[in-house]
Amino acid sequence: AKVAIFISGRGSNMAALLYASLLSDSAFEVVLVAANDPEAEGLALAEAEGVSTFALSHKGMVRSDHDAAMEKAARDAGADYIVLAGYMRILTDEFATRWEGRMLNIHPSLLPKYPGLDTHQRAIDAGDSHGGVSVHLVTPELDAGEVLGQVKVAIRQGETADSLAERVRFAEHQLYPRVVSEYVGRENDPEFLLGKVRELAL
Ligand code: GRF
Repeated sequence: AKVAIFISGRGSNMAALLYASLLSDSAFEVVLVAANDPEAEGLALAEAEGVSTFALSHKGMVRSDHDAAMEKAARDAGADYIVLAGYMRILTDEFATRWEGRMLNIHPSLLPKYPGLDTHQRAIDAGDSHGGVSVHLVTPELDAGEVLGQVKVAIRQGETADSLAERVRFAEHQLYPRVVSEYVGRENDPEFLLGKVRELAL
């Protein structure tokens, strides 16, 4: 399957996905890395690895116009799926709906706990024993789509949001490529295809 990755910054999850996609048994290939910030660090890495990139600042743009440009870039690249990896933009409902079932996101909490920002501090403040990371399907409601996979990460004595974020990131880099592979790989599963045919026949 062909995957477009949307980023806004560092792009460490993008890198994890990209290198996983280069393994011989990968179920997906990365056809585009797109960013809403032309300065996003991850763009340079994608370029160095020979992956097509697209960058368009959202500043001064109407949300729907910016979404449309990002979506067009993904379509032009031939993407079957859009994978959000630290993409710090809320999408229009229309965009999310058009890609429903074909857009994934990674969120640094054990959803349904702590949608939105500041997840690590919130977990620490609540006295939780674990933080973690979730990969979920994107729906118009923020961080609320079906969870496809999670990893729990222990919160230690004296943990700070930064130290927790760093360890959660290790977990993210393991989880995201695995879940993307499994999710897009279901297309090759006869049971899944049969289900699709039945849906169409109804
Ligand atoms: C990750 O922690 C991800 O869960 C969150 O944004 C961060 C992106 O980091 N949505 P990176 O750009 O992939 O390094």
